[in-house]
Amino acid sequence: MLDRLQPQSPDALLALIKLYAADDRADKIDLGVGVYRTNEGDTPVFAAIKSAEAKLVAEQDSKSYLGPEGDTGFVRALMPYIFGSDATMGGRIEGMQTPGGTGAVRLAVAVAKQAGVTAIHMGTPSWPNHAQILSDVVIDFKPFDHANADGTANIDTVLQVIRDAQDGDAVLLHGCCHNPTGIDYSNEQWDQIADAFASSAALPILDIAYQGLGHGLEEDAYGIRKILGAVPEALVCYSCDKNFGMYRDRVGALYVMAKNGDGLAPILSNLNFLARASWSMPPDHGAAAVRVILRDSDMTKAWLDELETMRERMRRVRDRLAAAGDVGTLDLRPLGQQNGLFSVLPLSKDQIQQLRDDHAIYMAGSGRINIAGLHKGNIDKFIGALEAVTS
Ligand code: LMR
Repeated sequence: MLDRLQPQSPDALLALIKLYAADDRADKIDLGVGVYRTNEGDTPVFAAIKSAEAKLVAEQDSKSYLGPEGDTGFVRALMPYIFGSDATMGGRIEGMQTPGGTGAVRLAVAVAKQAGVTAIHMGTPSWPNHAQILSDVVIDFKPFDHANADGTANIDTVLQVIRDAQDGDAVLLHGCCHNPTGIDYSNEQWDQIADAFASSAALPILDIAYQGLGHGLEEDAYGIRKILGAVPEALVCYSCDKNFGMYRDRVGALYVMAKNGDGLAPILSNLNFLARASWSMPPDHGAAAVRVILRDSDMTKAWLDELETMRERMRRVRDRLAAAGDVGTLDLRPLGQQNGLFSVLPLSKDQIQQLRDDHAIYMAGSGRINIAGLHKGNIDKFIGALEAVTS
């Protein structure tokens, strides 16, 4: 029977990691998958994580099963960072650990479907795995344009989509550092979005995978806090893969806000059921390390400092790109206003291939670049190559 299967095309972003690794040109530049890199081009383990891991190894006394909800200490320790001082919204928010942000999105979509959601509206372009998850969970995907041609967020459309939504609709929004465009809503636009949700039938599904990499932990949470303050219920998908550098450890969480505290138990029982049937329980180590950090003020300070260093370095890269202004046919100025790891350059498939073949520069086929792949040692070469392929 298995010989009936038709091959799937490999995930383009993950395939790019292998193509880059196989290139032996010394001056190659990796702007593909979204991992943070230092000015030296490395992706080191955070010092705070190293300390937490050392403590864990010394003190952990069992690796016995936890349960589908994972490390609840981890889940709760994150909540003030995400939701602010009233971190449970009066006892209406609870969460569970998931295998990375992907696990959180998958669980959110699955539980939404179980609750009767039949269509999910989402701005495109988006992280390609969003659409793959919607297709795999078998739920109707209704795309709308996330951005305008001038590089601003298409606020009119998202407001219209939210206002027009019917019972059975959900709207999935990126909380900050939009992947792939880097184009976020301003605080005023988030206020409008929250107002639109307040009188809409739509269930908000908020995906926040890069908190702290835009303008700061608090600043980056503005939109989701605003929406949660305006709606009866919502799902929030969270990832620590980037802001704790835990990529391969798969550290994420899904939070649910119910209409009232009593409404949480049935939702959580469905989440537990779905998680048990999918991965039984999430991997422990990374979440335990994050919990250790967040319960220790020195380690927390070290983590916040590392996060700030990352954010500031990416801001300097963006400033340098924006200062280049017109490069060939491209205008790099908007990149200075965008946030997080990613921006999209309007390059053709041929130009992207030429950058790879002639200049050893690797980026996603959509023209998405990982800003953190650029540093003092390669940014001039990158700008020069853009000029060469677009002139
Ligand atoms: C990315 O978009 O590069 C990251 O979120 C990694 C991934 O899993 O796709």
